[in-house]
Amino acid sequence: MSIIIPTYNERENLEELLPRIGSSMMDLDYEVIVVDDSSPDGTADVALSGELPARVIIRPERSGLSSAVLDGFRAARGDILCVMDADLQHPPELLPELYRMALSYDVVIASRYVKGSSLEGWSLFRKLLSKGSILLARLLIPRVRGIRDTSSGYFALRRECLPDGMNPRGFKILLEVLVKGNWSSVIELPYAFSPRRSGRSKLGIRTIASYLLQVLELSSPFLRFALVGAMGTLVNLLSLWSMRYLLGLGHELASAIAIEISLMNNFMLNDLWTFRRKRRGGLARSLLSYHVTNSMGVATQFVTSALLHRLLGLESVISQFVGIIFGFIVNYLMSRRLVWWWDE
Ligand code: GDD
Ligand code: MN
Repeated sequence: MSIIIPTYNERENLEELLPRIGSSMMDLDYEVIVVDDSSPDGTADVALSGELPARVIIRPERSGLSSAVLDGFRAARGDILCVMDADLQHPPELLPELYRMALSYDVVIASRYVKGSSLEGWSLFRKLLSKGSILLARLLIPRVRGIRDTSSGYFALRRECLPDGMNPRGFKILLEVLVKGNWSSVIELPYAFSPRRSGRSKLGIRTIASYLLQVLELSSPFLRFALVGAMGTLVNLLSLWSMRYLLGLGHELASAIAIEISLMNNFMLNDLWTFRRKRRGGLARSLLSYHVTNSMGVATQFVTSALLHRLLGLESVISQFVGIIFGFIVNYLMSRRLVWWWDE
């Protein structure tokens, strides 16, 4: 197993961590790789001079956590790749279990959020941030739905599960492995996450922003489409309501205009976000073909809404809402094939 430890200003922590790795791994077959970005506090010297042999990769300047881990992966010789923080938040005493579990599972996650885990030393804000970001990932990315700690910084995986073309930006290397990797079994091990021993966390507001981008990047197009649809629904109903009750228009006219407004709204969002501008044609052509492909859904929607209102005497907004649901499924199926060329 190759144990990869990215470091930036972790001198004191590393002084304690390396011997503890040595005594917990004992005679298991492993190597330690410290990837240090020329820390001003001389972290690399500790790694080089300690009694535990560690290989050290020194990079000329601070270039981010994920890219440090990727450089570590590249240099690693082990069949199992393991990543951990240097700051003693991740107890090295768990390493042998990670090692053993990695013999029968593709990915082994030291997890802060399974039964038996505990989390100490974090403010309520940091906890909420962590929980929220995990929830978002599980909501938006179907493949990680069953996993509790998708953003753990402490994990091991079999080398052959590593995807090619990983993104060196950001902090969330595990999330990328889980989304793009070739794994079939995963297990989470409980552990006690302890407070940082010394030094400061490197996680800042920019990390959080880049995480959000990463999650949105990895999310499935169907879920993005559904979110856009949900927003479009609100736009549609709000428009209908205003035209009916503020402007006093008749149901059919208001329904038709509301549908068109929400169509334009959805086209814009799907173009920019859901399908990332992978248009089959220019803007005008795409807009036209979006209308054509949605025409069945729109017709379904308009007719349902009108019938419910006229024949059953249902209230306008409610009729429109039921119409929207009927039209939605038809729309997704047609847009994905005919306006964009998303082929998953
Ligand atoms: N080489 C290098 N370059 N190492 C870095 C860099 C960098 O730019 N930035 C951070 N590190 C090192 C730190 O020195 C530490 O050993 C480890 O990466 C994690 O950084 P922390 O500053 O301790 O991050 P954290 O504890 O706030 O975040 C942890 O929890 C996150 C989930 O909430 C990490 O484990 C993350 O990986 C994890 O996603
Ligand atoms: Mn940490």
